Amino acid sequence: MRTRLVVGNWKMNGGLASNAALLDRLAAGANSLARGTTLAVCVPFPYLAQARERLQGTPIAWGAQDASERAAGAFTGDVSCGMIAEFGCRYVIVGHSERRQVHGETDALVAAKARAVLDAGMTPIVCVGETLAEREAKLTDTVVGRQVDEAIEALGNEVSRVVVAYEPVWAIGTGRTATPEQAQAVHELLRSRLVGAGAAQVALLYGGSVKAANAAALFAMADVDGGLVGGASLDANEFLAIGGA
Ligand code: PGA
Repeated sequence: MRTRLVVGNWKMNGGLASNAALLDRLAAGANSLARGTTLAVCVPFPYLAQARERLQGTPIAWGAQDASERAAGAFTGDVSCGMIAEFGCRYVIVGHSERRQVHGETDALVAAKARAVLDAGMTPIVCVGETLAEREAKLTDTVVGRQVDEAIEALGNEVSRVVVAYEPVWAIGTGRTATPEQAQAVHELLRSRLVGAGAAQVALLYGGSVKAANAAALFAMADVDGGLVGGASLDANEFLAIGGA
């Protein structure tokens, strides 16, 4: 059976003092989660130790927002999966649209990163999603299909160990959420590709302006197994309410 997963993506936000308050409030509120829901936060690298310190022993998991596909060496500024795993991380987001757009990450690189995360014993959250121009040109299925197929091809059987997040680029940080029906239509496509690859149980998260007010309707859709939450994950009450939806 697929279970509910709600992951916070802090992006490049936070500070030691504000994180401490947020993490402690999440830890204290973890008993308000809906039954069967796992909550996790993906924090900036410098705060992995703090996330571990504050969340260890609670039901809340933590992780990173990116990782190098390489193991070690002369790659200034990069962070390996081995390093991230040392901090007790369960999840690593790969291929977020901001990485694809700002850092030019390709489907092939995203697949290589997902492989590296798996090899380090963690779960990659592989992000896919179309831009507004692509949606308007009716290219959503083509783009999202290509993105997930690349991961399926590169990971083989192990694709069953990933989480996939559908995040329409036009809905990220814009306040413009996909309707539950729009989300379900793309999740259905993703599910059918994954079923074809023998990975029917992969958790499919929706991301893009998820908040407490719209989470329940999104999560009620047949192929929406949870959410990847940006802005709303920086507010403990809001994020816990999404976890309780
Ligand atoms: P948002 O971001 O919830 O702020 O739209 C989601 C994401 O980018 O993961």
